[in-house]
Amino acid sequence: MGEKLVIEGGRKLSGRVQVSGSKNSALPLLAATLLASEGKTVLKNVPDLRDIQTQIAILRDLGVNIEKREPSTLACRVEHERSSCARYELVSQMRASICVLGPLLAKRGYAKVSLPGGCVIGLRPVDLHVKGLRALGAEIDLDHGYLVARAPKGRLRGARIFLGGSMGSSVLATANTLMAACLADGKTIIEGAACEPEVNDLAHLLNRMGATIEGIGTPQLTITGVPELHGATATVIPDRIEAGTFMVAAAMTGSDMLIENVVLDHLGAVVDKLAEVGVYVREEEEGVVRVHRDSPDLRAVHMTTLPYPGYPTDIQAQLVSMLAVAKGISVVTEKVFPDRFIHLAELNRMGADIHKEGASAIVRGVEKLAGAPVMASDLRASAALVLAGLVAEGTTEIHRVYHIDRGYEKIEAKLKALGASVTRVEDKTGGAPCD
Ligand code: EPZ
Repeated sequence: MGEKLVIEGGRKLSGRVQVSGSKNSALPLLAATLLASEGKTVLKNVPDLRDIQTQIAILRDLGVNIEKREPSTLACRVEHERSSCARYELVSQMRASICVLGPLLAKRGYAKVSLPGGCVIGLRPVDLHVKGLRALGAEIDLDHGYLVARAPKGRLRGARIFLGGSMGSSVLATANTLMAACLADGKTIIEGAACEPEVNDLAHLLNRMGATIEGIGTPQLTITGVPELHGATATVIPDRIEAGTFMVAAAMTGSDMLIENVVLDHLGAVVDKLAEVGVYVREEEEGVVRVHRDSPDLRAVHMTTLPYPGYPTDIQAQLVSMLAVAKGISVVTEKVFPDRFIHLAELNRMGADIHKEGASAIVRGVEKLAGAPVMASDLRASAALVLAGLVAEGTTEIHRVYHIDRGYEKIEAKLKALGASVTRVEDKTGGAPCD
């Protein structure tokens, strides 16, 4: 049996909440440990999440010894390179594991990684990953659902690569190509590289491991290949998506609360959009922000998701939850994952008035949401349902809560500490939808 979250809405939150380390940084950083020829790579501030556990299992399969030190530190050392196959059973649980492809290929000359497949937010193609690695000289074929990649004579060679796709830059395709280029012979220039903070975090670790990457934080990365890399130590950046989620929670509940471990530089577009809604984020001290509203009403806005530094798609669902109870009609357009709207149906079950026009959600604000049993699905859609439950009248039950555990560390403990009524209980119904 699974578990569900039971939320009694209508409470104001108060107090301080700590943002954990970034899931979307820790996952590629863990993959980068495959590149070290000697020494340990120590990662600090790693969040304790299902996705992290999945990535650890994949890396252990691939010969990396990972020991957990104090709560959020992992010490990783490559013990053997006997297996270079990332199994379907694990990769199918988390598509981000595709980011072991580049380091495996560059370090071992061979990699076999299950195609991650799609998920509720879209098809999730990997053509840019393949393009980047092929440009470095890799031979890549699709073999019964697995990507099989080989480096001729065991080495890759530097190249100039444009990695922008029809939807703009790709975070993990940039990560894969960047990691592979570090051990390629010669110079690589990646144009159209993703500039997300998580990609920058990876580039900084790689340089600490002995790589030579220039242009970090820009859409053009220049990498001069080196013969080998060694272990290093890095502290994972705070999770900007979790920080943004708590900012929306404070805004929706009209709470006066402090959020710790926030890098405001990573959240410019979100802070700007919240101000348009009438919610202000102010830095009280280094890394600590206070969120407050200037009026009882939240204002309707238009928002379009874009690659960084644009408004992040991973905080789109959370904003829609807030706009569901704002005054007026908002339009939210997805330019990154046009199908990422599975939360709309569940929000409408709670009394929201939202309809979908292609890649846009038209959100007509309502006075109140009503608690209801809802189904978690996409990680961020599930967070949006938690936010809606915090302000809804009555009880909201969120089934299949494992989706939330993939990306939010101790979500109910953090919310409870802020005064929310959130409990995790066994889900006897399993939350299966009726036919
Ligand atoms: C990363 O996924 C994040 N995951 C996602 O967060 C995030 O939503 C996404 O970046 C966009 O910011 C991790 O970092 C682990 P993309 P990624 O490649 O790299 C298209 C979460 O909730 N595309 O940047 O897989 C793609 O279809 C997760 O934490 C291609 O066309 O996303 C999309 O439209 C969900 N071809 C756009 O690019 C490719 O080969 C951006 O996707 C690859 C991607």
